[in-house]
Amino acid sequence: MPLLSPSLLAGDFSNLQKEVEMLNWSKADWIHLDIMDGVFVPNISFGLPVVSAVKKHSRKPLDVHLMIVEPDRYIDEFKKAGAEILTVHYEACTHLHRTIQKINDSGMKAGVAINPHTPVESLIEILPNIYLVCLMSVNPGFYGQKFIPSSLHKIEKLKKIINEQKLSVLIEVDGGVSEENAASVVGNGANILVAGNLVFKNPDPLSIINWIKNL
Ligand code: DX5
Ligand code: ZN
Repeated sequence: MPLLSPSLLAGDFSNLQKEVEMLNWSKADWIHLDIMDGVFVPNISFGLPVVSAVKKHSRKPLDVHLMIVEPDRYIDEFKKAGAEILTVHYEACTHLHRTIQKINDSGMKAGVAINPHTPVESLIEILPNIYLVCLMSVNPGFYGQKFIPSSLHKIEKLKKIINEQKLSVLIEVDGGVSEENAASVVGNGANILVAGNLVFKNPDPLSIINWIKNL
């Protein structure tokens, strides 16, 4: 049974409280919040005040995915805003080890996300220090994109590396998760599914959440 982290990016921004309350009642495990700065990715989403507002209503841990340059500058602020899990991009951090140390010291759980072109082997040295790897299965920036099929193989490879190192790092898969590929994503070793489109654009979000949770 995978953990599920629905991405609010695909939710109704004019009624976020309603979306969060729906998730509170659902079997979703976390709430995924996509922070985009228009520099690291070609889109601007929302920032700290929105995270704080979601926190006020959420009974689920906030899983914050930073798609921003120089994330070090905002670690304390995201902690204050209520993030439980803070994920930074491998490609955005020159001193990734230092950034991860800072997140761990803050008391949040640390994640590292990798873009589709970044090999999983790049993470070997950092794995012992992190809680999760967020494997991007689309190019970050937008919800509702098509799953990149080669991501399936990356999940398998990463799982093997984690097992060989006898670690318990979780694998989160983010982007394009659908009814067609969700079972293979879990079968290949994903522990957490992020789902934007699949949950929020569904006429019956609660039942699709149940379906995912039973995979
Ligand atoms: C993409 C974001 C994802 C996205 C997922 O840049 O990181 O979290 O919102 O949405 P779907 O599931 O629709 O691809
Ligand atoms: Zn995301």
